[in-house]
Amino acid sequence: MIIAVSGKGGTGKTLVSSILVKLLSKTGKDLLVIDADPDSNIPESLGIEVDKSVGDVREDLKKDVNKGNIPQGVNKWDILDYKIMESIVETPEYDLLMMGRPEGSGCYCAVNNMLRKIIENISSNYDYIVIDTEAGLEHLSRRTTQSVDIMLVVSDSSKRGLHTASRVGELSKELEISFEQIYLILNRVKEGYEEELSDKAKETGLEVIGLIHDDKTVSEFDLEGKPLIELPDDSEPVKIVKKIIDKLKLAN
Ligand SMILES: Nc1ncnc2c1ncn2[C@@H]1O[C@H](COP(=O)(O)OP(=O)(O)O)[C@@H](O)[C@H]1O
Ligand SMILES: [Mg+2]
Repeated sequence: MIIAVSGKGGTGKTLVSSILVKLLSKTGKDLLVIDADPDSNIPESLGIEVDKSVGDVREDLKKDVNKGNIPQGVNKWDILDYKIMESIVETPEYDLLMMGRPEGSGCYCAVNNMLRKIIENISSNYDYIVIDTEAGLEHLSRRTTQSVDIMLVVSDSSKRGLHTASRVGELSKELEISFEQIYLILNRVKEGYEEELSDKAKETGLEVIGLIHDDKTVSEFDLEGKPLIELPDDSEPVKIVKKIIDKLKLAN
């Protein structure tokens, strides 16, 4: 089961992804987290450190190739594949793969192809894969979220947030990428704006599966730099994501 979290930057993708990791890792099933956002902060949110991203591995290999350090007869793609697998951080609860910075100015091709291939190759090793996608819509046109089963689109209460959300739905249709299920999560909602926002959200054409308020505990965690994965079970964001998991029958 591949679950991707998308939406405009700063809307709460990493918050939702981290809580998914927190809850899904408790099921005892095998879980892989892929951080596909170059402006990533998932390691901080999960409270772990990562040595190398796929981007770093790629740069190292490039240097080795340029220096002639690759032995004759060895395929550099095999090395890359191996090194990427090696860069996966294993914890008792989940594994984490960081995609890191894309190549050069705007050329994402190699990374995209790799990401697609990695997802294809290793998805069978895991029960769940949670992808914290890059902000915006690029992951769709690059087709790195092609094989996703459930797309959770996060929006804040801004027009731009909702616009990006509706574009995820529209663009996936235009590009003929079919998610088995796609839902909208409204996040950072201010008290009193629930109804108005839910009305506006209808225009996205996406079904709202959860509404999270602007949350004091999250802000406190942010201020202290505490990992969001440690948010208490009785905090609203955790309770709402738990409900979403139940609705989607994910933990069965
Ligand atoms: N419901 C919320 N209440 C308070 N702060 C939030 C909430 N959701 C997200 N944040 C904070 O807003 C910032 C952006 O959220 P983040 O999950 O990093 O967004 P994204 O990954 O989409 O860029 C973070 O500091 C995060 O902790
Ligand atoms: Mg993020």
